[in-house]
Amino acid sequence: MELQNDLLIRAARGEATERTPVWLMRQAGRILPEYRAVRNKLSGFIELATTPELAAEVTLQPVDILGVDAAIIFSDILVIPEAMGLPYEMVEKKGPYFPNTIQTEDDLAKIRVADVASDLAYVTEAIKIVKKELNGRVPLIGFAGAPWTIMAYMIEGGGSKTFSKARRMLYNNPVLSDKLLQMITESTIQYLKAQIAAGANIVQIFDSWAGILSPDHYKAYSLKYISQICDAIDEVPVTVFAKGAFFARQEMRHLNCETIGLDWNMDIQNSRRLIGEQKTLQGNLDPCALYGSPLEIENNTKKMLQAFGNTRHIANLGHGVYPDTDPEKVKVFINTVKEYSAYMRSKEV
Ligand code: CP3
Repeated sequence: MELQNDLLIRAARGEATERTPVWLMRQAGRILPEYRAVRNKLSGFIELATTPELAAEVTLQPVDILGVDAAIIFSDILVIPEAMGLPYEMVEKKGPYFPNTIQTEDDLAKIRVADVASDLAYVTEAIKIVKKELNGRVPLIGFAGAPWTIMAYMIEGGGSKTFSKARRMLYNNPVLSDKLLQMITESTIQYLKAQIAAGANIVQIFDSWAGILSPDHYKAYSLKYISQICDAIDEVPVTVFAKGAFFARQEMRHLNCETIGLDWNMDIQNSRRLIGEQKTLQGNLDPCALYGSPLEIENNTKKMLQAFGNTRHIANLGHGVYPDTDPEKVKVFINTVKEYSAYMRSKEV
């Protein structure tokens, strides 16, 4: 199936585009009342994510309702620990919780590299349904967590401000840390390849907890494994979003990926200088900018587009859209990107 709107893929590959493509991290779920309506008929997030027809339905909602240039498959990064033998629960208003965690070699011996074909078939099934229903309208983004971020949840057992148990492991047991990271990496490579085989047109690696590591630890325990994943995926473009990893931008220039995500703390021109001309940059409006008035959102979005210029750019927020954001404000952001970036191309500004 040929894509009718392939702006995102062309931008990722560094080809010229008539305008800047736009989508939002966490666009599926979180903000749409239409999502809540589907979700409220079920026991919770996990039932929704593991029911392919419904996961497909909420994946398509932002494409139909918001007009984004890509769909992202409705799932979660935590399906990988689950498939490795560490099930999670999603506690309402609190977030993920793991009844069992990894603390010792004995804990590690109880888990395995995921058998994606059997344990994650519900995700590839959902992807196939989405692809059919999209019928080539826009590309589909597949995703996974970066090994370090996944390890952080597997050790901590849930969310945390500091993830100090996980960071402690890097100091106290580097051998166990490396073994666990390698198992996650192998599971993730298989998983992304399965998503691509099912129809994902591009994949993104979310390193949400990149910013809590020292630069040395980030290189040794996160970039090393992300780089294995990038090297293993050559079927489609790869995006790496490492939230808070401002200190690693220069190293990320050498990753075998097409796009680097920027959060809103990262200066756009500096990032371009550090990362170089050979990558597409994705981001990076502060999600809080969408609490502004429509005029303020327009102005802040234009300012962002001007800073990126007519170069390799995929417009997005600097992190996931916040749950209480008004969908109408999201539309202002999306429409401003579409209109103003087309204007910028025509004026070469
Ligand atoms: O982008 C999308 O909309 C696709 C779906 C998606 C979800 N989670 C669905 C979800 C994606 C890409 C994710 C990624 C994810 N999950 C990350 C990386 C991105 C980031 O925001 O940093 C992380 C760290 C997680 C782990 C996670 N999942 C947490 C901490 C929570 C609870 C708080 C929250 O973010 O809502 C979740 C739950 C979750 N994942 C929900 C959704 C729609 C809410 C569940 C519900 O409906 O109750």
